[in-house]
Amino acid sequence: MPTEVIVNVEQGVSILSINNPPVNALGVGVRQGLFDALEQAENSPDIHAIVITGAGRTFIGGADIREFGKPPQEPLLGAVCNRIEACKKPVVAAINGVALGGGMEVALCAHYRVALEQARMGLPEVNLGLMPGAGGTQRTTRIVGARAALDLILSARQVKPDELLKLGIVDQVSEYSSAADAGLAFALHIEQQKMGVRPTRERTEGLSNDADNRAALLEARTQQEQRAKHLFSPFRIIEAVEAALDLPFDDGLAFERSLFTQCMESSQRKGLIHAFFSERAVAKSPETRNSKPRTLNSIGVVGGGTMGAGITAALLDAGFPVVMIERDQESINRGKASVDKIYARQVAKGRITDAQKTILMDQQFSASTQFSDLAQADVIVEAVFEDMDVKKAVFEQLDAVAKPGAILATNTSYLDIDEIASSIARPADVIGLHFFSPANIMKLLEIVVAEKTSPDVVSTAFLLAKKLSKVAVRAGVCDGFIGNRILGYYRQCADYMMEDGASPYAIDEAMRNFGYPMGPYQVSDLAGGDIGWATRKRKAATRDPNARYVHIADRICERGWFGQKTGRGYYLYENGSRVGKPDPDVEAIIEATRAEAGIQPREFSDKQIVQRYMAAMINESTNVVADKIALRPLDVDVTLLYGYGFPRWRGGPMKYADEIGLDIILKDIQTFSKEDPLFWKPSRLLVELVERGDTFESLNK
Ligand code: 3HC
Ligand code: NAI
Repeated sequence: MPTEVIVNVEQGVSILSINNPPVNALGVGVRQGLFDALEQAENSPDIHAIVITGAGRTFIGGADIREFGKPPQEPLLGAVCNRIEACKKPVVAAINGVALGGGMEVALCAHYRVALEQARMGLPEVNLGLMPGAGGTQRTTRIVGARAALDLILSARQVKPDELLKLGIVDQVSEYSSAADAGLAFALHIEQQKMGVRPTRERTEGLSNDADNRAALLEARTQQEQRAKHLFSPFRIIEAVEAALDLPFDDGLAFERSLFTQCMESSQRKGLIHAFFSERAVAKSPETRNSKPRTLNSIGVVGGGTMGAGITAALLDAGFPVVMIERDQESINRGKASVDKIYARQVAKGRITDAQKTILMDQQFSASTQFSDLAQADVIVEAVFEDMDVKKAVFEQLDAVAKPGAILATNTSYLDIDEIASSIARPADVIGLHFFSPANIMKLLEIVVAEKTSPDVVSTAFLLAKKLSKVAVRAGVCDGFIGNRILGYYRQCADYMMEDGASPYAIDEAMRNFGYPMGPYQVSDLAGGDIGWATRKRKAATRDPNARYVHIADRICERGWFGQKTGRGYYLYENGSRVGKPDPDVEAIIEATRAEAGIQPREFSDKQIVQRYMAAMINESTNVVADKIALRPLDVDVTLLYGYGFPRWRGGPMKYADEIGLDIILKDIQTFSKEDPLFWKPSRLLVELVERGDTFESLNK
């Protein structure tokens, strides 16, 4: 018998513990082990009931995702689930930790379920472009009805024991500390009360109240159309839940299976699973493997502007005491007020209480104009103006006051961190922590490792990211690191298309249709056009005089049109509206600029816009990998997914390129380079990969 299922017999009850670390995924060994153990228990005259539980922290983390896309191996999970349900002796699922996806499906096939306090159940398959495929849609609907089933499956949320009990998904929330004991006690109770078996397929509670079930289906469809029209699997989930109401159980199972197979074959499944594994892989850098983090108890933040306030809130949320330093009393009052405003909004929305806000602001947080108040900080994050001289002056002060071993981090967007580090006596303690705005909300953190950064400083940065619940990506030093460097390139490509004939509105629409929540010009209006304008002015002196330069953005900024905050940018925001309308004045500016440059406008289809935009993004992404700014292509994918709104179901630009075919992307770049060879220089690494017939995935290993 496979070792993934451990069998213990106590008082005539066979206790099956699934033991497949790290998350007890339902790999073939577990499936076979469950099948065999059930068979054995059923046939043994000494056994009167069976308990299924998980060894370790987890009940079952779901199907084994690593098996997806490979030829299926018997016994399939659906068959195992049916076998559990068909068992002639009562089966109790004793849920000790998370029971997710296939794990919840196994539990639903047991005749009874008991949960410990720390148990969580959920059907998160939708996050992977999938749907429950081992009866989850049919059995959940039979127990809780279509409305609650749709909510659970479409939201992917993990449900706590009290709600599970209320929904009737579990029969008991147990106070036992061991799930095996809780399961055993319940099995003995079943025996005593002669409760017998209770196959879920025969239950009908959820199938009643037909009008509400039908209304729930309709509402779910409308909601998905509004929120996730690009996605494939949510609509299949709704169809499967509908089938639970309309079809006999076995037909419903077969229908679910056929929809599950369609989801499994979809490119969205591949993209989403790539994202799942990639976001776990980015946490493993050479430094985290080989060095221990330093102490991480208290943190200082220098600068209380947009970023400083957001970073402070992110740190306070994670439970750190934070000292904020500003240059004068007026600035520190402003910085403090900004943090206060973040929490006041959270109180207004009911996310935290007034008392919690008081603790955060009065006990965890302190503000000062004295750098000497940073003397005890383990990590100091600098978020002052984006100016090398200002940053160097701040680092000089940090060098003077920080304790030995304190980590000195900069939140610079573009500046050379090696130059900052080499300006002080302890360059090994300097690192980039590039947060994204709003820093207390955005999940991405680029950890920028400078030439002399010590490995344990990098490890500490990853630990800090984990404590902040951020997804951290290791980056190297260059202008813009991973994300902003790539952004700079494809934004330039968008500007070229705009000058060549595509309106900003058409470009935005094409990219929304591709799956972005917003187009690049909407983003620019949201962030404020003044930021990019300042950067362009700063870089004007060092710009390649032969490179094409589009003046449209400057013309718009010169009028003071910085986007939403000024009521107009690329779009017009009437009466404080946050939804912009196309602006004829902007179109006139674009036309005039084209005429000045002697450009005859031409048409761009949605497809052509996407083709150029993506070719530019992929080309620069490849350079970023070739230059070792990103460790692997997957690090680029995670950066653009978490910091730049790239549609998750496409897996990231590198995954997208693999799906399209690198030869096709290269051919596009070569075609475009006939118009502008300076901008469209095919990345050498891309050419090499195409010559070798290789993929980006091969570099992720
Ligand atoms: N299959 C294979 N490997 C898995 C896995 C799974 N279902 N779930 C997690 N892992 C791996 C991770 O990749 C990671 O591997 P690594 O150490 O090599 O990087 C390791 O297990 C630990 O994972 P986490 O770092 O995520 O551990 P946490 O303790 O933070 O979280 C968890 C545990 C909540 C179980 C989380 O891993 C999770 O959400 N997993 C996915 C759950 C899921 O989506 N299940 C549904 C699968 S689809 C399905 O069941 C289809 C069915 O309906 C037929
Ligand atoms: P900001 O202008 O809003 O805030 C800067 C703050 O630094 C001001 O409050 C100023 O008083 C303070 N300051 C200046 N000199 C100081 C000194 N010597 N000592 C103490 N405080 C001082 O700027 P913002 O937007 O917060 O940017 C800060 C840094 O974060 C910059 O390096 C920027 O490039 C970077 N960044 C900005 C992002 C954004 O979206 N705004 C995103 C990611 C990084």
